[in-house]
Amino acid sequence: MLIRDYDPSDEMGWVRCRTLAFLETAYFDNVLNQKEHYENPAIELIAEIDGQVVGLIDIEYERVERSVCSRGKGLGGMIWHIAVHPDFSRQGIGRQLVDSAVDRAKVIGLNRFEAWTRDDLWVKNWYEKQNFTIVDSYYHIYFEGAEMNQRIHSGIPKLHLVNAFAHYVGEDIDQFKTKNKRIHQCVCYEKKL
Ligand SMILES: CC(C)(COP(=O)(O)OP(=O)(O)OC[C@H]1O[C@@H](n2cnc3c(N)ncnc32)[C@H](O)[C@@H]1OP(=O)(O)O)[C@@H](O)C(=O)NCCC(=O)NCCS
Repeated sequence: MLIRDYDPSDEMGWVRCRTLAFLETAYFDNVLNQKEHYENPAIELIAEIDGQVVGLIDIEYERVERSVCSRGKGLGGMIWHIAVHPDFSRQGIGRQLVDSAVDRAKVIGLNRFEAWTRDDLWVKNWYEKQNFTIVDSYYHIYFEGAEMNQRIHSGIPKLHLVNAFAHYVGEDIDQFKTKNKRIHQCVCYEKKL
């Protein structure tokens, strides 16, 4: 297994790897059909086996404090994507991608990584094994079909919302739990370097 910098020719392998990895998570429908690019510089690594992309990590990082991360002092990096192809899971690829990114981040002068993930217990366990700790959370709520009812309006005449995806940052999440089937806690992890 080789960990190396992302090359534009990896794009389809990157998309496939990420899609397959996310199918097993609460982000199953968060499909991208091209690789994300960033305003700021980024650590973009690929894990490759026999020419196949089997893992990836994208970390956009700051040259100006708080220009990318949501919190903290000094220069940090935001993990926008970390994924390992499910056929190659639990072989240490995710851990090695983070370790390689940490080595690069230290050379650049970053002091922390930030990452947001949903409430998949096994993914949270993985972050905690890599010495990430929870520093914040809020909720992602989906409104679909009858869940829309009278509660969600577009506010624009003749424009009818069919489905909605919302961020809830309040304390009373229980008010949604009887009506909405799909509610995720979105958790912010931080790892000090
Ligand atoms: C989370 C992820 C990056 C871990 O990569 P990995 O290379 O499989 O993980 P590692 O080999 O470094 O670590 C293995 C540990 O991760 C956890 N883990 C990984 N896959 C797991 C699975 N399918 N079921 C349960 N635990 C799992 C376990 O704690 C495991 O340790 P164990 O095998 O001793 O029980 C990878 O599973 C993945 O791509 N997940 C989907 C995408 C995602 O959720 N990304 C982060 C959110 S943005």
